[in-house]
Amino acid sequence: SDILVLNGPNLNLLGTRQPEVYGSTTLAMIEDACRDRAQTLRYTVTCVQSNHEGELIDAIHAARGRHVGIIINAGAYTHSSIALMDAIASVEIPTVEVHLSNIHAREEFRHRSYIAPVSLGQICGFGATGYLLAMEALAVHLSKGAA
Ligand code: DQA
Repeated sequence: SDILVLNGPNLNLLGTRQPEVYGSTTLAMIEDACRDRAQTLRYTVTCVQSNHEGELIDAIHAARGRHVGIIINAGAYTHSSIALMDAIASVEIPTVEVHLSNIHAREEFRHRSYIAPVSLGQICGFGATGYLLAMEALAVHLSKGAA
């Protein structure tokens, strides 16, 4: 079974984008680490990145029947997109929210997440490791469902 790892706007620039905030790990490195961890957990992953809100929504819709879980870093859309929130709520696929930075320790406008209310939980502040923690959490959640 396959997990969708979905990354939103500007995350394609990881590695060079404000490394003091987001670290020096590239998105390709994060995606490789996700693939490795998934294999250990007996899952596969599909990785999608888009800078376009509608494309992220399309990817969530397409996940129906194809992916057992979603790991999403929606970037700045986290703080603005009711449409993304509605998409996640609509497909009813277990979703974990990830942020590299600790959004609660940053500007006020980053404290609110529209993704959080429709997610199993939120992992933020642990850099690239957060994606792997999200995968562990998702695997535990999915195995409970299977038991
Ligand atoms: C981010 C946090 C967001 O506030 C920001 O807009 C991003 C990255 C993170 O991973 O820390 O693009 O989602």
